[in-house]
Amino acid sequence: MAAENLKWWQKSIVYQIYPKSFQDTTGSGTGDLRGVIQHLDYLKNLGAGAIWLTPVYPSPMIDNGYDVADYTAIDPAYGTMADFENLIAEADKRGIKIVMDLVYNHSSDKHKWFLESKSNRTNAKADWYIWRDAKPDGSPPTNWRGIFGGSAWTWCAERQQYYLHSFAVEQPDLNWENPEVRQALYDAANFWLDKGVGGFRIDAIVYIKKPAEFIDGKPDSDGLASVHDVYANTSGILNFLYEFKEKVFAGRDIFTVAEANAVKPEELKYWVGENGAFDMLFEFSHVNIMFAKGEAWHYPYDWKLTELKKVLTDSQKATADNGWYPIYFENHDKPRSVNNFFPKGTDTIKAAKVLAAVLLTLRGTPFIYEGQELGCTNVEWDSIEDYDDIGSHGQYRLMLQEGLTAAQAMKCIHRFSRDNARTPMQWNAEKNAGFSTGKTWLPVNENYKTVNAAAEDKDSDSVLNWYKKLIDLRAANKELISGDYQLLLPESEEIFAFSRSLDGKTFITAVNFSNQKVNLPKDFIDKKIIIDSESNFDKNFLKPLEARIYQ
Ligand code: NOJ
Repeated sequence: MAAENLKWWQKSIVYQIYPKSFQDTTGSGTGDLRGVIQHLDYLKNLGAGAIWLTPVYPSPMIDNGYDVADYTAIDPAYGTMADFENLIAEADKRGIKIVMDLVYNHSSDKHKWFLESKSNRTNAKADWYIWRDAKPDGSPPTNWRGIFGGSAWTWCAERQQYYLHSFAVEQPDLNWENPEVRQALYDAANFWLDKGVGGFRIDAIVYIKKPAEFIDGKPDSDGLASVHDVYANTSGILNFLYEFKEKVFAGRDIFTVAEANAVKPEELKYWVGENGAFDMLFEFSHVNIMFAKGEAWHYPYDWKLTELKKVLTDSQKATADNGWYPIYFENHDKPRSVNNFFPKGTDTIKAAKVLAAVLLTLRGTPFIYEGQELGCTNVEWDSIEDYDDIGSHGQYRLMLQEGLTAAQAMKCIHRFSRDNARTPMQWNAEKNAGFSTGKTWLPVNENYKTVNAAAEDKDSDSVLNWYKKLIDLRAANKELISGDYQLLLPESEEIFAFSRSLDGKTFITAVNFSNQKVNLPKDFIDKKIIIDSESNFDKNFLKPLEARIYQ
């Protein structure tokens, strides 16, 4: 497709902000909306066209905002509605759209809808959530396990019934079968559209449709069956999604990107593209390549580069003619990519440049997670008690249950905890990395004295400036936006190389994922190098972790 015919969001870079960790302007130790406004020039300078803001609604913060207590307000910890409106206006002045996160599979158990629903069996919202009687012996209706571990059912004394929660106990699932529930959710989304938001990221949407019959799933070693295996992307879900599109998104100049970790390639056309429910969906196969079993952190898989290339190539092909994908290596649920895709001991600055070259030259909309553009890395805290992330606590319990020692379990927490990506943003070498003057809600990564935006801005060889170079290159060359993708050197276990071509003009990306020097084939040697992560490069080979773009 010609670049001229693409929509604005297909040509944009999206920057994801985890507001709690971005910039604190009050000394509270948690970030806020004014903090986001403070850094809009930084984001414009980087080349961002949109900001995906993870939830800023009122929330008890059991899951850091993914437990929403009011869908049409701002949590006072983040600021006021006036701050939010100001953010939209200030971002707009810089050509940046604000994208909100819709958490519609579940609400918080402190949402007034749930408080009413749980009060008795006859109230007006009695079936706004998913309630079932106990089994005759008093046990939960099914053996389903929530995604954060433990039974997906919690007993409610007032109603003498269980309610279903795909995630934490404090995140009861909404009953999408009820048209009033759906309408209330659509109204909330339209509320934000009226404020001028540029789109939505839609959370956990594959779980909204529950099976027609509630029966036990095939149990794992803990006797429970994951809700993901039981009902992710259950038949009938598309009817809800098409209605959602019609009532909210259709005809608007916005984009939608769904978190949809269960959609098979053959179903993709119903989910994205011309007639799909959404504009894009997040694919998980590359970010989960390091797991042998679901997303269990203690079953690591020793993946090969050819496997990573295959899944990325498959997703490039899946959307070659219809639909569009986001490209990402990080978000608030994943470890830092330099630690996730490279072994311990790797030079993370070089590794960050390798991933950036891939991220910014594949076909799709690149998503950059805060700090990724600085080459931020994982943290390692001593005890599970040091971790805030509810997912880490669930995984830790499961690991102990399955017989791992505390030390073994902590190793997995260090490797995969979601807190790795949630530490405060590293702005400068001052107190708390310039994030806050108060006591920060999570410790700052110790490497902030060197890995920070101010220092990297001044260093022409920094990860930050490498990102800027690539973003500028992408913006200036339509081949890198809409050109066809072709995998090169498919058998190589060291080099990831691919071309992007449009109307006879071609760019080639070649990056060395390995720690060895790798000689290049003759047809690469003859090509014109336009940028390289090494200042002293040799056209005949790639040094360890070298990234290069040819034209
Ligand atoms: C996916 C979100 O990205 C994650 O942070 C959250 O814990 C779950 N959905 C539940 O909302």
